[in-house]
Amino acid sequence: PYLDDLSGFQAIEEKIKQTLKLDHVIITPGDSDQHDWVKQDLGLRAVEFLQLQLQSNQTIAVTGGTTMATAAAMMRPSIHSNGCVFVPARGGLGERVENQANTICAEMAKKMKGDYRMLYVPDPLSEETYHSIIQEPAVKDILHMINQASIVMHGIGDAFTMARRRKATAHVLDKLKSGKAVSEAFGYYFNRSGEVVYKVRTVGMQLEELSNIRTVIAIAGGKSKAEAIDSYLRQGKSNVLITDEAAAKALIKGF
Ligand code: BG6
Repeated sequence: PYLDDLSGFQAIEEKIKQTLKLDHVIITPGDSDQHDWVKQDLGLRAVEFLQLQLQSNQTIAVTGGTTMATAAAMMRPSIHSNGCVFVPARGGLGERVENQANTICAEMAKKMKGDYRMLYVPDPLSEETYHSIIQEPAVKDILHMINQASIVMHGIGDAFTMARRRKATAHVLDKLKSGKAVSEAFGYYFNRSGEVVYKVRTVGMQLEELSNIRTVIAIAGGKSKAEAIDSYLRQGKSNVLITDEAAAKALIKGF
């Protein structure tokens, strides 16, 4: 224990930071699988972290999910949010409206007194539609903005929980099973070593592009997500993890 360690989690934060090669790890008490207030705390910590990073006129790309929706609910104006623009990181991934990136963008922008852009793409996207849609000027514009994002905020899901939630077909489920999928983020599914085993076809940010972005913040908690968090972070595309005590403790057990 350190004097400045108000949360009591500094040692675990440090361990996770070292093992998963992250720049920042923030742990909030409790288990978000058990209590909604823990998820809200997670959202609040994400908002606080964003506000520390944010500078005027920056673009922030966000994903969907219930954790990100909670972060949107906790969002508040900041002195640095002048001219900020929220964009969805990727197009339709099969989420309910309230958990879609578009919805979350609009809410975050409203609360931050910023602006937002939306990506309207059919979901799921056929190969043919994909190729024609990325030629649309309006889509091109927003894809350009997504690529210019300074900050990305995203959730991490358990692979099969996400596949079921998105009503994945039997064919996709088979691919996930044979690939031993463990985690999901941005519509990509990963095995325990962080290798991509399946990818949802939609427009927007590609996994490789995350390497060009300075601040990529993963927000995920709950004991049930520990393996997923480990799996996703193995491929090293995010540099900040905001999680809860239950996920963090289960995570370090696996190291
Ligand atoms: C999705 C994101 O919408 O939410 C994923 O696109 C993420 O990247 C998932 O894995 C997490 O959802 P939740 O509800 O567990 O926060």
